[in-house]
Amino acid sequence: MRTDIDSASASTASFTICWPLRDSLHSAGSRPAGAQDEASSARAVREMFDSIAPRYDLLNHVLSCNVDRIWWWRTARRFRHILTRPEARVLDICCGTGDMTLALLRRRSGQGVPVIAADFSPAMLERARKKLPARQTTVIEADALHLPIESASLDLITTAFGFRNLANYQDGLAEFFRALAPGGEVGILDFSEPGGVMGKLYAFYFRRILPAIGSRLSGQGDAYAYLPQSVANFPSPPAMLDLMRQAGFTQVSWTPYSFGIAGLWRGNKPA
Ligand SMILES: C[S@@+](CC[C@H](N)C(=O)[O-])C[C@H]1O[C@@H](n2cnc3c(N)ncnc32)[C@H](O)[C@@H]1O
Repeated sequence: MRTDIDSASASTASFTICWPLRDSLHSAGSRPAGAQDEASSARAVREMFDSIAPRYDLLNHVLSCNVDRIWWWRTARRFRHILTRPEARVLDICCGTGDMTLALLRRRSGQGVPVIAADFSPAMLERARKKLPARQTTVIEADALHLPIESASLDLITTAFGFRNLANYQDGLAEFFRALAPGGEVGILDFSEPGGVMGKLYAFYFRRILPAIGSRLSGQGDAYAYLPQSVANFPSPPAMLDLMRQAGFTQVSWTPYSFGIAGLWRGNKPA
């Protein structure tokens, strides 16, 4: 299914089915259970990913039936016009164990400027370092809300399934906007909640079955209870597009993947 929506159509009636109600409930950023403020949310998220890192890849592929590979591949393909430019400066933030970064590298020539892969979880990064070719990547520990990167220096920022975990979405977008060069682009791949019959089936899987399997295989029940909560708390596609426009991005759009289970938000920093 391909029904991109852009900022102009974001408020049209077809999206008023369930998203406005959700958007009145979602918060400004991720709030894991027990977290009181942004600092404690960020700490809880980092500790959670550190704890599930050893089994993250296995669980990811089992729980998504390997569809996640297609989502990373589609995201990288969407930005091939940038990735194929050897001088393009690219950041994959919230890189985790590095699969989105690997998909980006497949679109890049070996001579290109190394892609920066960054995350704030040392245990996730340890795994990324083992997977990513050292010549083609620079792996750094960094917080998405405080990037150790010069303003206006990047041509592309991607983030896959990480943005939803940020303690403040507006601050995250503002930080991406700051780091991008004029004409640069951002791609945010993350989960969404599809509507209709598919949505009901998926909600059952996502809220009941996935947390049960995830907690059994990882031994970390909290992490897999957090996942559906964080998706429910995340702004709907039209609301995210509004946040992106408020941050200054233009030509914003959302492309649903797999019936809207996931999707790619993208936008440009004006040249
Ligand atoms: C669900 S994983 C996704 C990893 C990878 N991108 C993928 O697609 O498999 C989310 C990642 O975001 C990272 N993360 C969450 N908040 C972050 C922040 N504020 N700064 C940097 N990394 C963050 C976590 O440590 C975790 O590795």
